[in-house]
Amino acid sequence: MKRILSRRQLQYTVGGLADHIRADYAGKRPVLIGILKGSFIFLADLARELNMPLEIDFVTVSSYGQGQVSKGEVTLIQDVTADIRDRHVLLVEDIVDSGLTLAWLRRHILGRSPASLAVCALLARESIVTARPDVVDYLGRAIPDGFVVGYGIDYGEDYRYLPDIWVLEEE
Ligand code: PRP
Repeated sequence: MKRILSRRQLQYTVGGLADHIRADYAGKRPVLIGILKGSFIFLADLARELNMPLEIDFVTVSSYGQGQVSKGEVTLIQDVTADIRDRHVLLVEDIVDSGLTLAWLRRHILGRSPASLAVCALLARESIVTARPDVVDYLGRAIPDGFVVGYGIDYGEDYRYLPDIWVLEEE
C-alpha cells in the first residue's frame, strides 16, 4: 500500500473545506447528511472544524458491496431521518468515484424539497472533476485512479480505521 494523504494533510484539507462552508452558510444552520458508511470519519472531523450551528443526519447507501468494482446500482439501506423540507442540505461524501452514488442521492434529496442542496466530498476522481466540475461544490482533493482505503474508506469492510489514506497496489 502507498500512502497518498497523511493525517496532517487530511487535517489541513478538512480545515480548508470547513472555512469555505462556514463562510457560505453563515446564519443558515445547515443539515449535514453523511453518506455512510464511508463518510463517518470525514463528517466527524468536518463538523468539529466547522464549529458552527448545524444539524447532522445520515443516509446509508451501497453500490460496491464487497468488491472493487461498482455494481452499477445504488441500494438505499437507511434513509435520512430529518425533515429536510426547506432546509439547507449539505451532502457529505468520502469519495466520488463513478459519481453514481451522488447522482442517485441528489435526485433522492431533491425529491424532499430542500431550500438548497450542495455536495462536499473529501476526494473525487480527476476524470470526474474534469468532465463534470459542478458535481462537487466543496472538494478536498482530486485524485487519480487507484483503489483508496483508510479514513473511513474500505476494501471489503477492512481498512476503514486507518488514520491516513492509502492506495492499494496490485499484487
Ligand atoms: C463508496 C464510497 C462512496 C461511493 C462512491 O461507498 O464510500 O459512497 O462508493 O462511488 P461512486 O461515485 O462510484 O458511486 P460504498 O458503496 O462502497 O459503501 P460504503 O460507503 O459503505 O463503503
